[in-house]
Amino acid sequence: MLILGIESSCDETAAAVLTDEPRVLSSVVASQVTLHHSYGGVVPELASREHLKNIRPVVRQALEDAGTDFSQLNYIAVTYAPGLIGSLLVGVTYAKGLSYSLGIPLIPIHHLEGHIFAVELEHGPFPYPALILIVSGGHSTLVFSERREHYLLVARTRDDAAGEAYDKVAKLVGLGYPGGPVLDRLAAEGDAKAYPLPIARTSDGSLDLSFSGIKTAVMRLVQEQKIPAASPPGQEQPAEIKNLAASFQYTVIATLLDRVKRAARHLSPRSIILSGGVACNRGLREIFLSHFQAEGIPVLYPRPSWTTDNAAMIAAAALPKARRGECADSGLNAFASLPLTREKIALPNPLKNN
Ligand code: KG4
Ligand code: ZN
Repeated sequence: MLILGIESSCDETAAAVLTDEPRVLSSVVASQVTLHHSYGGVVPELASREHLKNIRPVVRQALEDAGTDFSQLNYIAVTYAPGLIGSLLVGVTYAKGLSYSLGIPLIPIHHLEGHIFAVELEHGPFPYPALILIVSGGHSTLVFSERREHYLLVARTRDDAAGEAYDKVAKLVGLGYPGGPVLDRLAAEGDAKAYPLPIARTSDGSLDLSFSGIKTAVMRLVQEQKIPAASPPGQEQPAEIKNLAASFQYTVIATLLDRVKRAARHLSPRSIILSGGVACNRGLREIFLSHFQAEGIPVLYPRPSWTTDNAAMIAAAALPKARRGECADSGLNAFASLPLTREKIALPNPLKNN
């Protein structure tokens, strides 16, 4: 059985072919980062036009890399929510057309469920119950999962996503888009204690996240401490930029660890799952590993190319749905904003031991 996955929710046009084992036969990602670099973030109109240009060649390349063709496909999986509406529509419309013309079923996938299945693709089914942190450019969500494909919301961001904070801080000091990889690299060379930044907690005692405060604090810091602008790419960065990167990264990780630790104390998960672009972060991976391994809880995350947006994770998420025959009809639509789950887990408020 062969399934074609398609992903176009943000600034990556991606296609992948998987068997139902699952085995990844191909995974192609056409990234738009150079297009958006100088804007310091994704420009939605440019992104959808680029998807339109890329989707056919990317799908063809995925088929070719997998040594197959359209006629061998049994299913198509596509991201239908959430994301940039113009970008999503390119993938959904293309996938609908392909499903109709090939006469094969179409399976709609929630982007965040895709990120969760990237971890299964890497490690196989993980121990449940699992506490799952998805941190990317558009999302910062913590869910509790007692069994596969069942999610209860523990916390979400009330404003910016963690990756968005990385991207905005990088833009502020002139490091371009995306901010995560470059700040991650510079953080390793800086002093995390150089600039103390606030760890946000909500006044109502919930585990919800907020990253707009840290972004504003960095903005003020840059003005007050007269932090110089970043050097052009490829050149050595000033010590102040390295220290800022280290201090910012330390605070983001401390905030995420604070929430996951408090949730874990209450929910006793058997695994901690990290996914989404920010889960590529070396500091985040190291700190989560050392903290939870000391408590005997495995921390699992995918390889970097499956952590950021890709279509292999979308096809992987569709496999159990394909087995159950859960397919979309021709009325499938795209949704810019749609939560992964509407079910919230009830936690005592305030949480004990926090
Ligand atoms: O999952 P993803 O590819 O797209 C969304 O679903 O949003 O995540 C992209 C985000 C960007 O904000 C990027 O700056 C961030 O992930 N990112 C990182 C790292 N690599 C990518 N953030 C922190 N550290 C990294 N190493
Ligand atoms: Zn994503």
